[in-house]
Amino acid sequence: MSPVYEDSKKDLVHILLVSFTGQGHVNPLLRLGNLLASTGLLVTFSSSSHVGNSMRKANKNIDQLNPVGHGMIRFEFFDDGLLDNDPRRHDLDLYMPQLELLGKEAVTGIIKKHEKEGRPVSCLINNPFIPWVSDIAHTLNIRNAVLWVQSCACFSAYYHYHNKLAQFPTESDPEIDVQLPYMPLLKNDEIPSFLHPSSPYPALRRAILGQFRNLSKPFCVLVETFHELESEVIDYMSKFCPVKAIGPLFNNPKSQLSTIQGDCLKPDDDCIDFLNSKTPLSVVYISFGSIISMNQEQTNELAAGLLNSGVSFLWVFRPALPGFDVSVLPEKFLEAAGDRGKVVQWCSQKQVLANPAVACFLTHCGWNSTLEALTTGVPVITYPAWGDQVTNAKFLVDVLKVGVRLSRGDQSKKDVISRTHIEKCLREATTGEDAAGIKKNALKWKKAAEDAVAEGGSSDRNFKAFVDELRMN
Ligand code: UDX
Repeated sequence: MSPVYEDSKKDLVHILLVSFTGQGHVNPLLRLGNLLASTGLLVTFSSSSHVGNSMRKANKNIDQLNPVGHGMIRFEFFDDGLLDNDPRRHDLDLYMPQLELLGKEAVTGIIKKHEKEGRPVSCLINNPFIPWVSDIAHTLNIRNAVLWVQSCACFSAYYHYHNKLAQFPTESDPEIDVQLPYMPLLKNDEIPSFLHPSSPYPALRRAILGQFRNLSKPFCVLVETFHELESEVIDYMSKFCPVKAIGPLFNNPKSQLSTIQGDCLKPDDDCIDFLNSKTPLSVVYISFGSIISMNQEQTNELAAGLLNSGVSFLWVFRPALPGFDVSVLPEKFLEAAGDRGKVVQWCSQKQVLANPAVACFLTHCGWNSTLEALTTGVPVITYPAWGDQVTNAKFLVDVLKVGVRLSRGDQSKKDVISRTHIEKCLREATTGEDAAGIKKNALKWKKAAEDAVAEGGSSDRNFKAFVDELRMN
């Protein structure tokens, strides 16, 4: 054990973060971890060893104690009983109970070990999908907070559904619209799609609603959003739950003190050179996050739409996860694109979005990507698939007015989006008559996001109050 660790155990308040697997969950929780560490806390970040193995391959420093600002961050992964390539990992009906069974025991063991070694855990923070972490905290009499990694609007939708406070589509009435307080009317394909009776992911619905059954346990629900972005919904929901907006964690100046990243694939650095060689606002960035992928027909249409539009592009074309659509780039596509295009398997999205060459982001509207685009002032073209993505797309286009809608997502007909429609949207978002207005709105949200996390901003105040609570224990 290093001397600094020995010293630290005497006075640093120790916080244990437990993350569900998946990049969209790891990133925001790790960003919170870096931020907490920067204020002088000892943070242990935990998840399954599958996540740990992926992070080790893509990042340095995962196996050491890392100083961040006045505190430290370290990692402790646990075995979920499956080999990294076990197909059961991708079958949520099998994986969720397995993770709960082994995770509960392992996380309890981690907490007891630290207590014995003189570094008691004073707060346990988890993200959604693993509500059993709140049970551990309750049993061991440790404080618990949740980091909600989606919008507050989606939090409200799940809350209203769980508590039967609003009418949602049913099997007999699948097409009704949903009206929730302080939200625009959501069409049946704009509610978080796991709540739709025809969703093919009932395991995800169960997992996410599990947190709502356990909502009395956390003393605080931190939300990866900022007040100015969703003020009415946040104010309304805070009457029922202890929600506190503390985002965007993505670009919080204090979390920049840490070099620890949570990538599960190694980012391709060449794409930054590619962007640096391009003129400002000339490149479309395309990425669909860490889970979804396109079928072959849709990949062909996107490739053709890109070529026909004449825009430059950076396309993250990730290897498909088991059970998801598999496709390859059309033959001669890269040759046809020439210097105009670059395709990578993974990039540092944070650096890409901050690059002046990026004109817009063709995105699946995962909440991290959504908030990252808003925080960097990059307009979007929305291509949502499922879950919260369809709701995020609705807000991006119709409420925040920072984008162009390419498609409606899973619940709508599974038609392939044509190359002509893709080309039209690419033009609309980059050079069309509304492009300047969309960019202006995007820059407005960028400024609001920066102000929220700046000293004295709304998220900064909430975060400081949360840290004060942690220290009081
Ligand atoms: C999942 C769900 O699909 C999403 O709906 C939910 O809101 C969060 O959890 P995911 O699909 O991976 O997330 O999308 P997203 O939320 O956008 O998270 C992806 C993360 O990976 C982002 O932080 C993004 O910056 C990062 N990323 C993605 C990279 O760093 N490099 C890439 O090449 C692609």
